[in-house]
Order: sequence, then structure tokens, then C-alpha cells
Amino acid sequence: MKSQILGTGSYVPERVLTNGDLERMVATSDTWIIERTGIRERRVVATGQACSDLATEAAQQALKHAGVSATDLGLILIATCTGDTPLPSTACEVQERLGATQAAACDINAACCGFLYALAIADAYIKTGFRHILVVGSEVMSVITDWTDRSTCVLFGDGAGAAVIGPSENEDGVLSLHLHADGHYSDLIAVPCGGSSCPPSEKSLAERLQFIKMKGNETFKIAVKTMEGAIREALSANNLTVEDVDVFVPHQANIRILKAVSQRLGLPFSKTVINLDRFGNTSAASIPLALDEAVKDGRIQRGSIVLFAAFGAGLTWASGVMRW
Ligand code: UT7
Repeated sequence: MKSQILGTGSYVPERVLTNGDLERMVATSDTWIIERTGIRERRVVATGQACSDLATEAAQQALKHAGVSATDLGLILIATCTGDTPLPSTACEVQERLGATQAAACDINAACCGFLYALAIADAYIKTGFRHILVVGSEVMSVITDWTDRSTCVLFGDGAGAAVIGPSENEDGVLSLHLHADGHYSDLIAVPCGGSSCPPSEKSLAERLQFIKMKGNETFKIAVKTMEGAIREALSANNLTVEDVDVFVPHQANIRILKAVSQRLGLPFSKTVINLDRFGNTSAASIPLALDEAVKDGRIQRGSIVLFAAFGAGLTWASGVMRW
């Protein structure tokens, strides 16, 4: 039995932070940011707005779109690395807010690959007999962003995207998902302190170790290679070629990464759904945000072959193919 996405939803906070705003905060320029990343603006939460707030809004939309009631959910998975608190999980907060009284709930942390990891778990549970599973990617990257570090603060944004998964009525749906990780590269993208290996202290706060650090250049090169490899793996597992792909929904880190990946594969760039120009890198939220947009504006139609690929901290990388 295959699983299918029955409905999608998304939410971004109202506050827009433009490249012009960043020019007033750090030594950067609109031209540099657009040329090096493709990002023009990003959304940032209002004071007090948390990961669960974004996730709940996106989830409510997805449930409505799917025509599924919250009480029909058997499992809620929230992909995030910026949950409300270390305990309890953000998923339990979302379960309460939705009134999803029958659902088990937990968070999944696979950084920018979180949505595809969570989708793979949902797919496996649907095969065991679960009827309806909510998968959400929700991130408040602005809380782990160092707004004094120009090498990272221009990149990230906040947002959430959601999907309701259920059993497919035919042979359409998730064709395959491919998950990878290599902890050898854990230092390329990391928030060094705030967890059990380095609990928050005056020293760690003074050194700003509660914020994301990234070796951007090295990460860039590995991102292109691993995403290309994961896509080839997904296509070959389903006897598909790039010509068969109707829509490519990738993780949105940098437009130059996406162009390089498309070029290496011979995949026309016009098939790529882009939202990083408006939302920046929203980590686990970027794929479901882009997916919702492409579903709602009609780029994805029943029968469309949809290709996914992601790359992020861990390192993790992943890909997948669906027939919508
Ligand atoms: O989602 C998780 C996965 N993340 C990624 O995949 C991110 C991958 N990496 C990237 O997207 C890119 O490496 C960045 C956008 C982060 C950086 O672009 P780059 O072309 O690799 O720049 P760079 O780090 O090599 O820096 C080039 C120059 C440096 O100056 P010098 O040393 O050449 O004088 C930087 O100091 O650009 C400078 N620079 C900036 N200048 C203006 C770095 N950040 C900025 C900035 N504004 N914001």
C-alpha cells in the first residue's frame, strides 16, 4: 500500500525583514545577498510567537484542505530544530491546540531534511495501518540566528508547512524516499551550546554559542554533490529520468546550489519551485512551504511526478519521488 498527501497548508509570520533592513544591522548589501544566495526578504516571528503557533496555523489549513478532522489523526510529527522548549515536544503542544485527542505526537530533528525524514516515518506507519498522519515542518530560525554575524544572519527565516498523509486509493502517492546522514561532518552547521554537551552558561552566552555557526563554503560544495546523488538514487529506484519529473520541490538554502544541482542533472530549472527569495532558508519548513504553494497555484496536478531533495545539518541529506 502507498501513502498519499491528502492536503497541504502553510503559514509565515507577518513581519518581513528585507535585505535593506539587514544593511542597517550588519556590513552587508542587498546586491551581495541577492547575488550570493537569491534571497530578497524573509519572515520573522513577532515577540512571543513560537514554533507551535506557526505549526498549528499550517496544520489547520492542511486538515481543512484534506477534509480530515483533527480527531481522525493517529500521529503528529513535527520536524523542527527550533521547538518551543526542550520538553515537552512541540508536537504535544500542537496536538492539544488542534484537539487531536487520538494522536500520538513527537518531534523529529533532522535539520533541513526534517520534513522528508518525517514523511518517510509517516509513509512507513501508513503501511502498518495508520489512517491519518499530520507531518509539519515548522521553524523559528530567528531565535538561533546571530543577528550580528553577517555570514549567517542573511540566510534564515521563520515559517511552517504541513501535510496530511493517508493511504492512497490507487497506485499514486509516495513512490520512494531515501534518507542519509554522516555525523563526520557535524561541525559544518551547528548550534554549539544549549544542549547537554554544553549547557547554557554565562561564558557560552557571552561567546554567542547559542547561535548557529556554519562553514558556508564547505557546506555548499557537499550540498550540491549529495543532493545530486540522492536525486539520481530516487529517480533510478523508480525507473524515472529527469524528463519524467514535472515539479522539483527542493530544500531552499541557496539559489546557486539549486541551479548547480539542476545543471548537473540536466533538469530544466523552470521545474524548480523557489520560495527562498521571499522566505530565506526556513530549514525543515522550506519543502512543505514550497509544496503548499505549488499545490495551491496549480503547478502540481493530480498525476504530477514530484521530486524532493534536501540537505542540512548533521550532515543529513534526503530525496523522494511522489505521483500526486
Ligand atoms: O540549509 C542548510 C544548508 N546550508 C547551506 O547549504 C548553505 C551553503 N552555503 C552557502 O549558501 C554559501 O556558502 C553562503 C551564502 C553562506 C556564503 O556564500 P559564499 O559565496 O560561499 O561566500 P564566502 O563564505 O566564500 O564569502 C565570500 C566573501 C568573504 O569575504 P572575503 O573573505 O572574500 O573578503 C565574506 O567575508 O563574502 C563575505 N561575506 C559577505 N559579504 C557581504 C560573507 N557574508 C557576507 C554578507 N555580506 N552577508
